[in-house]
Amino acid sequence: MNYISSLDLSEKQISELFSISDSIAKSGTHPFSEPKRVLALLFEKASTRTRVSFESAMSQLGGSSIYIDSSTSQISRGESISDTARVLGMYVDAVAARMYKHSDIVELARNSNVPVINALTDLEHPCQALSDVYTIRKELGGVDGKRIAFVGDIAANTANSLMVIASKMGADISLVGPKGYRPNGKFVEAARKRSSVDISSSMKDGLKGCDVVYADTFVSMGQEAGASERMKLFCAYQLNESSVKYAKKGVRVMHCLPAHRGVEITSDLLDGARSIVWKQAANKLLLEKAILLYLLQKK
Ligand code: CP
Repeated sequence: MNYISSLDLSEKQISELFSISDSIAKSGTHPFSEPKRVLALLFEKASTRTRVSFESAMSQLGGSSIYIDSSTSQISRGESISDTARVLGMYVDAVAARMYKHSDIVELARNSNVPVINALTDLEHPCQALSDVYTIRKELGGVDGKRIAFVGDIAANTANSLMVIASKMGADISLVGPKGYRPNGKFVEAARKRSSVDISSSMKDGLKGCDVVYADTFVSMGQEAGASERMKLFCAYQLNESSVKYAKKGVRVMHCLPAHRGVEITSDLLDGARSIVWKQAANKLLLEKAILLYLLQKK
């Protein structure tokens, strides 16, 4: 089994992953039944949290990891994704890949005989979404019936995965972004099978009644060329002391990080009492352990 897309998981599987996470959090340790498992981290893009948390997760579970900067691998000299997948599977027990094109990770998984985990592509960030929804469950006492606003680039990979995982657990979604800017229809359609998804260009309307407001960068990796245009388009969608007043009084603030302080979110919110951003970051380690245990024990 692979974990390539938020669409891959059923509500039951998400609950199972959350239970494994609870159990690891409670016991503090939960090693692999077969130690010495090895994870390859094949990364085309920069990372701090995802890389380090996966490496720590493997180490703490009794396994190890090998970081492969794809620019120093033979992929950079033209070796195909499919040949790379075939060979990596001879040496390691799983591959976590961060790639620009989602189609490349699909190709990697198609040719791999070991589980492949999506550590972010241009279309999805499914490990992040699991960790985020787990954080909401823990910090707000549940997900069912909660209203979550994703603000800014509502067509981004983080928004796609978050709306699917959160809706599968019963949350209602509000996507708040510039007029004429549309989210990805495939993910909206999937989320609407279980919950409501509202789309608004108004911060006032979009944040109304929300239990959680979620900010993300206005310029994702790979979009740097259009950065100044995007800043103009998204600048009205900053989360700050004024804009969060539109949400519920006890609203919690989230951001998957890295944050651009003073751009998509202000420092006072990020570091303030309503922020669960740092718990969200910490939970990545826990959920990645759960994903690794789930995929490697079931292989
Ligand atoms: N949130 C997240 O994926 O962070 P990194 O890019 O640092 O891995």
